[in-house]
Amino acid sequence: GAPVEVNIGKAEPGQMIRVEWRGQPVWVVRRTPEMLAGLDGLADLLRDPNSEEPQQPEYAQNQYRSRRKEYFVAVGICTHLGCSPQYLEDTFAEQVEGVNAGFFCPCHGSKFDIAGRVFEGVPAPYNLVVPPHYYIDDNTILVG
Ligand code: FES
Repeated sequence: GAPVEVNIGKAEPGQMIRVEWRGQPVWVVRRTPEMLAGLDGLADLLRDPNSEEPQQPEYAQNQYRSRRKEYFVAVGICTHLGCSPQYLEDTFAEQVEGVNAGFFCPCHGSKFDIAGRVFEGVPAPYNLVVPPHYYIDDNTILVG
């Protein structure tokens, strides 16, 4: 499949943009400073906090899992059995107390933080997949 350009110039803080790449949903979330701060200190709750599992680009192997902290790019498919997780911008604390935003898969209850890192104790085996991507310019991401 061809690479896909995503215009992020008009994304509001907290907004998710959805595009399709190779028949898969790809999300781009413009993370707020509060969301980024919320990634600190979660490591003990997570299965793979630094994303050391294979098949991650090098720039996803850290707690932000992105090239630029402000934008999180991920394939929007649960790593358990492929359902579509929900983006919970400000109600994720109902899933994990004290964590302000993340993704929740309604099929079997897998939980991911706002960097797509999977929490312990849920069926999903891996963090959400970060697709290869780079910045063409400040307002444009190329996925693929
Ligand atoms: Fe997401 Fe099973 S498919 S938890």
